[in-house]
Amino acid sequence: MLVPGARGMLGRAVVSLLRGRAVECTPLDRSTLDLADEASIERAIAPGARIVINCAAYTDVDGAETNTDAARIGNATGVGALAQRCRDVGAMLVHFSTDYVFDGAGTPDGSPYPADHPKNPINAYGRTKSEGEDLILASGAAHLILRTSWLYAPWGRNFVRTIARAGAEKPVLRVVNDQRGRPTSAEHLARTTLAMIEAGARGVHHATDAGECTWYEFASEIVRALGLPARVEPCTSAEFPRPAARPAYSVLDISTTEALIGPLTPWQDALADTLNRLEPQ
Ligand SMILES: NC(=O)c1ccc[n+]([C@@H]2O[C@H](COP(=O)([O-])OP(=O)(O)OC[C@H]3O[C@@H](n4cnc5c(N)ncnc54)[C@H](OP(=O)(O)O)[C@@H]3O)[C@@H](O)[C@H]2O)c1
Repeated sequence: MLVPGARGMLGRAVVSLLRGRAVECTPLDRSTLDLADEASIERAIAPGARIVINCAAYTDVDGAETNTDAARIGNATGVGALAQRCRDVGAMLVHFSTDYVFDGAGTPDGSPYPADHPKNPINAYGRTKSEGEDLILASGAAHLILRTSWLYAPWGRNFVRTIARAGAEKPVLRVVNDQRGRPTSAEHLARTTLAMIEAGARGVHHATDAGECTWYEFASEIVRALGLPARVEPCTSAEFPRPAARPAYSVLDISTTEALIGPLTPWQDALADTLNRLEPQ
């Protein structure tokens, strides 16, 4: 399996899992496969490639509002080129998308977003990720698109490590309590991805850990579980304006994934496992 974006947070989890399971795996970083460079895509995805697990993306949600060219290349046009190359060599493309393709207004009955719910992204990141999905579908490549949310790992830049550091340094942490979603361990997502590939899954599915919470509830659990001295206080998104709007509700319906590979882990259990292994920062 070929893994573009192998040095990113999820890429590292995927490569580590594949190696641990003795699955043949070729990690590709930006110097070998740059989504902005079609020739590098062609070189890296050679005839004979069977499965490409694309962990490369432009993931700076606020940065995407102004770095529009880089975001569009990393999440849309570069992904389209990758999908076309996969089609040409007969490889399956496994790709990751986001809860931010939805607008956050929720479903009519208030249940989690099913994979076929109409998309309506409210920020530039979500729009480019949505376009990337559409280009994969249009390419004709065999594909598995897994939408995920609120990713974290013992490494990399993520909310869990930020709160672990801030909670040890500051007496009070104010965290937004009006955005609800599903935290997801990148290591669990790697396992879910491999299980979905092995189950023969195709098309668009949702892959997160189970349960739901707000960022405030997520931060409170991190501080509690680590026994940090900080007090966590709820606030609203309006009190902390950011360049990119975030959906208020982005809980993804994981039922089609669970039907194929069994129940996914509650986020609190996945978090506890990760907190034991946070890398120094
Ligand atoms: N993080 C989240 O909370 C979250 C939530 C929902 C969905 N997702 C999706 O999950 C996937 C993995 O995210 P992640 O958090 O692991 O991202 P990440 O840590 O930011 O890693 C992304 C990787 O992509 C590489 N990359 C960026 N632009 C590239 C380009 N033009 N060509 C080749 N490589 C490029 C980066 O390389 P450099 O280090 O060289 O820049 C980096 O190694 C992405 O598809 C993301 O959209 C993430």
